[in-house]
Amino acid sequence: MTDTATTTIDPAAVTPSPGIATVGILGSGIMGAGLAEVAARAGYTAIVRSRSQAAADAMVASIAKGLAKQVERGKLAEADRDAILGRLLATADLAGLADCDLVIESVVEDLAVKKDLFAQLDGIVKPSAILATNTSTLPVVDLAMVTNRPDQVCGIHFFNPAPAMKLVEIVRPLTASDATIETATAFAAACGKDAVEVKDQAGFIVNALLFPYLNNAIRLAEQGTASIADIDTAMKGGCNFPMGPFALLDLVGLDTSLAILDALYDEFRDANYAAVPMLRRMVAAGRLGRKSGRGFLEYTR
Ligand SMILES: NC(=O)c1ccc[n+]([C@@H]2O[C@H](COP(=O)([O-])OP(=O)(O)OC[C@H]3O[C@@H](n4cnc5c(N)ncnc54)[C@H](O)[C@@H]3O)[C@@H](O)[C@H]2O)c1
Repeated sequence: MTDTATTTIDPAAVTPSPGIATVGILGSGIMGAGLAEVAARAGYTAIVRSRSQAAADAMVASIAKGLAKQVERGKLAEADRDAILGRLLATADLAGLADCDLVIESVVEDLAVKKDLFAQLDGIVKPSAILATNTSTLPVVDLAMVTNRPDQVCGIHFFNPAPAMKLVEIVRPLTASDATIETATAFAAACGKDAVEVKDQAGFIVNALLFPYLNNAIRLAEQGTASIADIDTAMKGGCNFPMGPFALLDLVGLDTSLAILDALYDEFRDANYAAVPMLRRMVAAGRLGRKSGRGFLEYTR
């Protein structure tokens, strides 16, 4: 997870994935916003659904602001910016996603919330549509099984910030058809991403390996072994990582990080995944990282 430059895709050069023209994005948080930008840049019509029209509109406005900066810096042509924004729609109504060919759910990392939304979506979107989740850790099969199209459900797991990060994990639950996985992989490629396929197991590849490291960094700080600032400096300078573990935890969001660790621990009962108490207390105190202005570090908005 780095602050590298945004992936630039020439919309004219896009080969859309077969059968996909309109992509629905459920959720307008950190990842929902990133996914909407990625899909619209890749030439798809992207419809973002948030629980309130104000939140959905605010998300589109924040994407517009980011694109305007790229135009100012000469990284994006004005006409391309206008075309991207022309493909971005926002709604507060779940039924607004009815005509989507692919819906990517990216709401809070809570299985009950996601299951409820998948069951509702299944009754709204057309029978041919693929329903995907951007979950970091939760069992994709549980979402597939609340629908009447378990063969058309998979994980499409982007990384944060989605416009900049190259990787997408394509998560194959036991129920998914080969055609669904192929379409999801083609969609990721059309978005300019490198796709890897992984079984439906908590944490997939990246988070299964990353989160023991992040959790143990908090443990080191909690034990007083070194300061937060020195641990971040050490991992950047000593391992050539683009950011230290605390900057990364704040970028991911501490509530999301806690939910990821809890899901990993639930699945594997491995002590490395047992969330360090300090993390749980930080979330209880509302210190969620960048998105709340304060996490392990402080941010001016
Ligand atoms: N943050 C990351 O680095 C990252 C990376 C990859 C994947 N993810 C995954 O993406 C998903 C979203 O994470 P995020 O970081 O964007 O979180 P976020 O906290 O920024 O946004 C969460 C979104 O969920 C919505 N929401 C909350 N409760 C809801 C409900 N009951 N019904 C409908 N919508 C609800 C919120 O309004 C918000 O739009 C999670 O599944 C997370 O695991 C996160």
